[in-house]
Amino acid sequence: MNENDVELVRKINDLKNTREAVILVHNYQLGEIQDIADFVGDSLELSQQAAQIDAKVIVFCGVHFMAETASILSPDKTVLLPDLNAGCPMADMVTAKQLRQRKKELPDAAVVAYVNTTAEVKAESDICCTSANAISVVESLSCEKILFVPDQYLGHYISTRVNKEFFLWPGFCATHTRILPQRVFELKEHYPAAKVVVHPECRPEVIALADEVLSTGGMCRYARLEDVNQMVVGTELGIIYRLRKENPGKIFIPVSEQAICPNMKLITLEKVLRSLEEMAPEVKVAEDIRLRAKIAVDKMLEVA
Ligand code: 13P
Ligand code: SF4
Repeated sequence: MNENDVELVRKINDLKNTREAVILVHNYQLGEIQDIADFVGDSLELSQQAAQIDAKVIVFCGVHFMAETASILSPDKTVLLPDLNAGCPMADMVTAKQLRQRKKELPDAAVVAYVNTTAEVKAESDICCTSANAISVVESLSCEKILFVPDQYLGHYISTRVNKEFFLWPGFCATHTRILPQRVFELKEHYPAAKVVVHPECRPEVIALADEVLSTGGMCRYARLEDVNQMVVGTELGIIYRLRKENPGKIFIPVSEQAICPNMKLITLEKVLRSLEEMAPEVKVAEDIRLRAKIAVDKMLEVA
């Protein structure tokens, strides 16, 4: 860390105490942001933290839907997103209006919304899920027909594991579609002893080559297992920092150096400090939408 960063971190920590703030950080964030976290995790773990944590302010280092979910669960806390441009393009692939239209065409399907959605879409959904609990969430429903939004690949993966009829939305994560089966195949040849672990947002052809299909939090737990010494990792590149930091001596090979989510990388130490100084930008959900969206998020947390 250079002198400038050391000074930024010192100021962040001072101001964090003054503001009674906690810093929640997603596993894809830059290493220097992971290092200032009170908690680093996946979408499910971060929403659980947001629901239970005792603080006046949450500085959310992740993307917009994650900060929104924190605000849905903890409306009395000030939720700061250090850069409002940090969105999730996949979350924007379904709007509430489009979903209402599709629901009319499928009146007897349960709507399962990946947590990578806007609050308005969550408000139109029966239940949310993350990559960590998607299978349990869908299994918990009595309905046999599932309208899953917006990630077609996560939806497809669940449909191979749960015996229900699925209607998939054509959304996808551009970062995860950069992870290609040919490269996984080459790495398997090159590292025959390595476990291949991929995120369920990957293409089905990639998932077919994996030993494990896990959320980012699941990957971090899996990496700690005694018999895992080499891991080929099929997800966004930022997780490699945490995996290496927590598991010195083990080998982590990213499938693609190009699998970088540009939105996740918008959060910097400078922006974290500025957000604490200015207590902005704040993410807040209109109360009527929040209350409806919370029903879907709470149902998910009951299953998780
Ligand atoms: P996780 O919930 O597994 O961390 O995934 C979040 C995400 O945005 C993946 O692209
Ligand atoms: Fe969204 Fe993909 Fe970035 Fe995750 S990696 S936040 S799904 S764009």
